[in-house]
Amino acid sequence: MSTDRKPAPAAGREPAPAQTAPTPIKNANIKTATVIGAGTMGAAIAAHLANAGLTVYLLDMAAPDEPAPDASGDTPADAPAEHAPRNRIVAAGFERMRSARPAHLYTPQLAQNITLGNLEDDLDACVGRSDWIIEAIVEKLEPKQALMARIEAAAPAHAIISTNTSGLLIAAITAGRSADFARRFLGAHFFNPPRYLYLLELIPTPATDPAIVQQLRTFAIHSLGKGVVICRDTPNFIANRMISYIISQTLEFAVERGYTVDEVDYLAGPLIGRPRSGLFRLLDVIGIDVMAQINRNLYTLIAHDPDRDALQAPLHTAAWDTLIAAGHLGSKRGQGFYKTVTDDEGTRAFWTLDLQAARAGTVDYHPPQTPDFPALHALRRAPLVERLRAILAQFDTDPQDRGAALVWHTVAHALVYAARRLPEIADSIVDIDRAMRWGFIWEMGPFELWDALGVADTAARMTASGIEPPAWVGEMLAQGHTSFYTTEDTDAWVYDPTRTTYVPVAGDSVRWDMPAIHRKGKAVYANDSATVHLVPGTETTPQPMLLLEFHSKLNALDPGSLDALEAARDALLEGTGNTDQRPTGNDGTSVAGLLIANAGVHFCVGANLQHMLDAAQAQDWDTLSKFIQRGQYLFLDLRRAARPVVAAPFQRVLGGGVEVCLAAQRVVAQAETYLGLVETSVGLIPGWGGCKELTRRHVYPGADSHAMPAGLERIFDTIVGARVSTSAHDAQRLGLLDPDDIVAMNPMRLIETARAQLYALAAQPRPKNAAAQVYAAGRAGRALLDARIEDRQSRGQFTDYDCAIAHQLAHVLCGDGDAGWQPEETFLEREREAFVRLAGEPNTQARMAHMLRTGKPLRN
Ligand code: NAI
Repeated sequence: MSTDRKPAPAAGREPAPAQTAPTPIKNANIKTATVIGAGTMGAAIAAHLANAGLTVYLLDMAAPDEPAPDASGDTPADAPAEHAPRNRIVAAGFERMRSARPAHLYTPQLAQNITLGNLEDDLDACVGRSDWIIEAIVEKLEPKQALMARIEAAAPAHAIISTNTSGLLIAAITAGRSADFARRFLGAHFFNPPRYLYLLELIPTPATDPAIVQQLRTFAIHSLGKGVVICRDTPNFIANRMISYIISQTLEFAVERGYTVDEVDYLAGPLIGRPRSGLFRLLDVIGIDVMAQINRNLYTLIAHDPDRDALQAPLHTAAWDTLIAAGHLGSKRGQGFYKTVTDDEGTRAFWTLDLQAARAGTVDYHPPQTPDFPALHALRRAPLVERLRAILAQFDTDPQDRGAALVWHTVAHALVYAARRLPEIADSIVDIDRAMRWGFIWEMGPFELWDALGVADTAARMTASGIEPPAWVGEMLAQGHTSFYTTEDTDAWVYDPTRTTYVPVAGDSVRWDMPAIHRKGKAVYANDSATVHLVPGTETTPQPMLLLEFHSKLNALDPGSLDALEAARDALLEGTGNTDQRPTGNDGTSVAGLLIANAGVHFCVGANLQHMLDAAQAQDWDTLSKFIQRGQYLFLDLRRAARPVVAAPFQRVLGGGVEVCLAAQRVVAQAETYLGLVETSVGLIPGWGGCKELTRRHVYPGADSHAMPAGLERIFDTIVGARVSTSAHDAQRLGLLDPDDIVAMNPMRLIETARAQLYALAAQPRPKNAAAQVYAAGRAGRALLDARIEDRQSRGQFTDYDCAIAHQLAHVLCGDGDAGWQPEETFLEREREAFVRLAGEPNTQARMAHMLRTGKPLRN
């Protein structure tokens, strides 16, 4: 491999000044922002800034027929009542955002961070107080330019100004503005919906100060949780430029060859590592008219691009015209390539457009049909690359195979277009890969996929199909470089076609993620369900740490997971357990603590239901009781350990997964974490200390002995309703996370943040063996909960069996004696007995079996 650690500047570009990668500014001092334009994007961006804790002003045009109020305040916050009628447009956008699903805000309460205003009365005051001003108005150059003139007059000297344009040239928007304005102006292109899509494209112009780019980049990564790709100011930047071409190419091929909508979305979806939306559902989401407009604009802007004719394809596709003429523009109009049909029983189905009928001018929808590709279907559980290899082998054998032919067409064109557009649209291969993974949720970027399929083989197959790769790919291969990416020691390198050599994968590197743990750590205990790693320290944090990684299917907890947790516990606790397994640092120092983290799709979906159902059906109460008791005492040990235990949950965290988190001294949860003690939905109650832990944390005696103790109702409702949080913030509201647990915005930095937290806790003194007392509300509390259950039943909210479970829960939470403080162990015994009792009930077993069969709860 030829490497070049001090790469020469790219041809035709100025070398970057030596110090364009300043040390990261962790807290980039952006506390207040104004978002202008409260449409689809502006209101949703405002929501995400509110999620991040910013003070946000959201402005839109003043309602045209309302008179201006008397000047009565500096900001909309000072005079909301007078301004209300004038704020009709912004208020409508704000309300649409608040009622949209999936929710833009982590919790409804975060809407309080947003103040509404209008551009006539409030622009100066709001912009004047802002550190960041974001323009998200209509996609037209003149209004954007006019708005920039007003912003320039009002913005404080330090403020950053950005546009969310998806198609206009950034430099054109600053035309007429001063050099100082241009210095702090750039494109900041969010993807829809901004809360959920990881990508943020930042597009500086040649006039933008690199320090401003770096400031916003750092802020976006750490405070907004975004993955940042720096783009060039070329039409539609990276992700949209790529996707417009890929959609258009695939669409023409599919329509001309008579594929159905169901077939295309099957072939161009998860089967090839792209999202479920495939192609037509994605078009419905974007809007069929919007896509047409995007393609038209892009076509005129890229006269130099020899592939641009592909963009005309959809516009020439008669099916497209039929939909536009009928006003069926996609999801926003309720139908497009798909139509939601609800039958007499209220069941919804997504019917699909008959493309061939639409070509002839008729709009006709069919019920969904499972595409008939048995050979491909058989591959669907294989890993992506293995699956694609098999499909391409099928194509080699039979190029007429309908499934394999479309897959090869869309994959080949995506790969080759990415290669052809370098270096025009991106500085690096990495940027294109990241843009497609982060912006469109592709499992692998085009170059990563090409590498995995074999660069030379794939290039040869392309040539044979008449899809010629650009010359630089052939030159790279001729130089003996057989892949776009390579590693040397543990560093990642990427081929740079301009410099014709490998360069380090730029910036942004996350120091501690699961691959880094695997590289640097040593597995000290492992089974099929989980591994315990001993991870060496660093110069600043010399103690090693333990990291427990779940890796069973969906990270469900089974006896193997408990074995690994026990091995980790024994290693953590001084003088207990299996000393052979108890790792210490090389110099004999003990470990700093235990981090429970993984890089699965979900952190943990709870205890393995099949295991419990098997024991229940075999009436093996001893095994079941021991399985529960093991977990209870294991979690008690972890919570009481002298060294810190930190859990780093993300995505779905259910049942036993929540109890793992409740056993930790501190939780560092990714913002998108959906926690729930959902045991009642399978006829059970939390048995591994979940009932006890919520009671310990939240229930205290009330002032009046006849009143409900503080906190009891809240935790009862959370457990009995099997409530699942809609975010980590919401989990704090439900009491499933503590207020001092930490919410980490950036999913890729979760392990890094949790690790830092572990070492911070390890540096603090900690009381040993903190056994606690738990307040049991006794007979009186139980009577209050029983009344609540009967009330729910009388209102038809609970079935008889729901009531039976709820009464068991009330018994566990309150006990049957006098109200008072109890040792944790007493509480755990009640929990365990109730759990095993419920597991013996036929109705519970029916709920468990139904959940295992259908993935849905049974309300029997
Ligand atoms: P939209 O049409 O939903 O909202 C635009 C908002 O701007 C409306 O509330 C409108 O009242 C306001 N507005 C229109 N003309 C104005 C003017 N002259 N002065 C002040 N306000 C005005 O548009 P959307 O979809 O939110 O797009 C906004 C920007 O974001 C556009 O530049 C678009 O290209 C870009 N974008 C859109 C994405 C999407 O998925 N919709 C994704 C990424 C970027």
